[in-house]
Amino acid sequence: MSNILDAIEKRSSTRGYMEKRPTKEEMECLLKAGLQAPTAANRQEIHITVVDGQNPILAEIEAERNKGMVPPHNFYYEAPVVMILSGDAGFHWSAVDAGIAVENICLAAEGLGLGSLIIGCIRDAMSGGKKEYFSRALKFPEGYEYQVAVAVGYKAVAKEPHTYDMDKNVSWI
Ligand SMILES: Cc1cc2nc3c(=O)[nH]c(=O)nc-3n(C[C@H](O)[C@H](O)[C@H](O)COP(=O)(O)O)c2cc1C
Repeated sequence: MSNILDAIEKRSSTRGYMEKRPTKEEMECLLKAGLQAPTAANRQEIHITVVDGQNPILAEIEAERNKGMVPPHNFYYEAPVVMILSGDAGFHWSAVDAGIAVENICLAAEGLGLGSLIIGCIRDAMSGGKKEYFSRALKFPEGYEYQVAVAVGYKAVAKEPHTYDMDKNVSWI
């Protein structure tokens, strides 16, 4: 897929993955896509932790998120890789910068024929009582905090992209 508009149109959230892992070259391509994203004042502060889907830290995050509930799937849908984006807690634009970077990663994944899923549902778990523990375990730089995560891997399920209402969401003046 060479056209960025094709990737934008075809990307959708993948909630089911094959065991097969993305190659090192594919992972490097995703990392470049994330790091190539624009950042406010060109701070380039977003840090990406690449976590193997088998790493026990993911089960610990899952357990923290699930306190009091048992969801049908784990938060990353058994993806072979989860990328966790952290940003400088003291920088006003880190959340926006991480959002832009994560979408770059999703579009690059689509371009490579991979699936992706943006993950926000672990926010409370990442910023609660185990915040310092998770931040250290995930090698966040000093003063950084969780922003967003993205699961990536080969798609085991198909899903149509979402539809939208141009009239509702757009005003021309
Ligand atoms: C900031 C953000 C957080 C999200 N968090 C989750 C999540 O925790 N779990 C999940 O299954 N999907 C999550 N999603 C995916 C959305 O549910 C999905 O993008 C939306 O339903 C539209 O579907 P599509 O991505 O297939 O077009 C998140 C998306 C965004 C942008």
